[in-house]
Amino acid sequence: MADFTSGGWSLYITIVTIVSLIALFFLAWKLSARRTDSGPVETSGHVWDEDLEEYNNPLPRWWLNMFYLTIIWAGLYLIAYPGLGTYKGLLGWTQQDQYETEMAAAEAKYAPLFEKFASADLAQVAQDPEAQKIGGRLFSTYCTTCHGSDAGGARGFPNLRDGDWLYGGEPAMVKTSILNGRQGAMPAWGAVIGADGVKQVAAYVEKLSGRATDDAAAGQGQQLYQTNCVACHGPDGKGNPMMGAPNLTDDIWLYGGSTEKIAESIEKGRNGVMPAHGELLGEAKVHLLAAYVLSLQGSAAAHYED
Ligand code: HEC
Ligand code: HEC
Repeated sequence: MADFTSGGWSLYITIVTIVSLIALFFLAWKLSARRTDSGPVETSGHVWDEDLEEYNNPLPRWWLNMFYLTIIWAGLYLIAYPGLGTYKGLLGWTQQDQYETEMAAAEAKYAPLFEKFASADLAQVAQDPEAQKIGGRLFSTYCTTCHGSDAGGARGFPNLRDGDWLYGGEPAMVKTSILNGRQGAMPAWGAVIGADGVKQVAAYVEKLSGRATDDAAAGQGQQLYQTNCVACHGPDGKGNPMMGAPNLTDDIWLYGGSTEKIAESIEKGRNGVMPAHGELLGEAKVHLLAAYVLSLQGSAAAHYED
């Protein structure tokens, strides 16, 4: 309980808690005092609907006894468990210990399940129905926030089931993406080639995907492309999995495929980050996740359309 910045708060909380419990006890005790049966029952003085009066009868005994019991329970609880400021409780229970015990128990229970697949070939594990189930559950827990519950992706977060890869779709590459993470580095070109240059090279990029564009602009864009873009996206625009430079000829877009979005990618640059999961999850779980992702290939069309 080092969360308190000064010991004063601990004392304050302890006093407020104990005083409240004692005050509640006296309140219940006072309310339990029975009145003599003779004479008319007092009313509280409240009247509704002209003649509906509230009687002031003592509280039922059973109800009061339950109230006393809860007060006694609270007292015993506060002696046994941490609750009064920095007092640790007689049982020595802590959240941290409980969490660690539960995690260790879960690890002991599930580790053999993960280990069973850890040394098997990824392509084989991807075919195994049990592995797919476990991988699917891991995916729901750790990956859906970014890649979507069906792995269909969203703008900036790649679709993992369309067979189109930034960093390569061989089993080892997919596993490396998850283990070590990835960082896309597309520089911003606005300041280098100017607004017109961006338009022209965007026209050329659209043409690479077989779209009809302004041919004159695309022609000039081709020059700009040869000078500035070949190093990463390749002379034919097919991309480079070594640096995650996307294929620009397949009309599949990570950041949106409208003319404006393509121009925006070029003008401002893009820097997608896939966090490393190796340390967090351990190799065995990553192995299952990679197998799961591989098992999804070709199973459904992309749901994300720009
Ligand atoms: C914080 C968001 C985030 C989380 C969480 C996340 N990813 Fe990613 N992932 C990304 C982004 C962004 C990229 C693309 C990186 C880039 O643009 O270079 C990516 C890329 C990938 C790639 C490479 C795709 C390709 O086309 O080569 C794989 C495989 C992948 N993620 C799998 C996973 C798995 C499995 C999990 C769960 C363990 C996961 N990701 C969790 C954001 C995330
Ligand atoms: C240093 C390497 C590098 C250079 C040079 C480069 N790019 Fe890129 N480009 C990338 C990477 C990496 C990505 C993916 C960024 C990400 O994943 O966040 C990308 C993404 C893009 C995208 C978005 C694709 C999509 O699917 O949404 C477009 C369009 C693009 N680049 C066009 C260009 C053009 C045009 C040029 C030349 C003016 C260029 N790039 C130069 C590395 C580069």
